[in-house]
Amino acid sequence: MPEPIFNIERVCYRYGGKYIGLKDITMQVHSGESLAILGANGSGKSTLLKIMAGLAFPEDGSINALGKPLTQDILSGEFAGFFRSKVGFIFQEPDVQIFCPTVWDEIAFGPLQLGIEKSEVRQRVDDTLDMLGIKALKDRQPHHLSGGEKKKVAIGSVLSLNPDILLLDEPTNGLDPRTQVWLFELLEGLRKFKKTIIMATHDLSIVEDIADRVIVLSENHTIVADSKPAEVLRDKDMLLKVNIIHEHTHRHGDVVHIHSHGPFARHDEH
Ligand SMILES: Nc1ncnc2c1ncn2[C@@H]1O[C@H](COP(=O)(O)OP(=O)(O)OP(=O)(O)O)[C@@H](O)[C@H]1O
Ligand SMILES: [Mg+2]
Repeated sequence: MPEPIFNIERVCYRYGGKYIGLKDITMQVHSGESLAILGANGSGKSTLLKIMAGLAFPEDGSINALGKPLTQDILSGEFAGFFRSKVGFIFQEPDVQIFCPTVWDEIAFGPLQLGIEKSEVRQRVDDTLDMLGIKALKDRQPHHLSGGEKKKVAIGSVLSLNPDILLLDEPTNGLDPRTQVWLFELLEGLRKFKKTIIMATHDLSIVEDIADRVIVLSENHTIVADSKPAEVLRDKDMLLKVNIIHEHTHRHGDVVHIHSHGPFARHDEH
């Protein structure tokens, strides 16, 4: 097995030294994996992604990324540029991510920071705007857009960097059905190109379509499952315990059955 791109060992994280975000997290991620992180509100999904993105640093334990210990120190040196070009993070809240005067600038920002030539940046921005169907918004102020439009801009600002590793925090929240389907198809395409995709969600209905592995966080901020989607979805007791399903969730045989009305609802299976 090649070296993992993320090697997380016994990581603990508290906010302000007080509020527990993560407890004793040990996991590895290998290149090309498509991983869903599931958990109830407050279980630590966003915290885990922030740690993998080098935006928060463990209080205890360690994280190695792309073969280096991911510390504040190393991210203030040469490694930072390399790491930022490889790892893209789409925040749960797009407001945190957008700060440029126009949508065009927002999507151009990352590639320009990486020193990519201006004509190539222009091409990338045009392609990204096209792909997301937001060409008409290119001169608008990102902060004055609707929630879903902002989310698309935030997604675009990361895609224009073409990172090998994509960290996505609840990326479908607030997106209309067409854009959700577009995003899933895009992720499917990226998987074929061997990109690594790590996505936090509490939407069980999409997990089998987007992931080949699932990690479940408990409300105590620990990992309670790490396995294939089908196996995780079968474990109703565990899903109940961690508050991802409730008693009324339908059950057919041994497999938890979620009534999905999302883009992947398969009514022929009912
Ligand atoms: N800035 C913060 N200050 C203090 N506590 C925080 C902060 N951010 C998160 N927490 C706490 O850390 C824990 C984990 O939060 P996190 O945002 O990682 O959860 P999550 O699984 O992403 O939840 P959600 O599904 O609501 O997005 C929660 O108990 C939360 O209250
Ligand atoms: Mg979150």
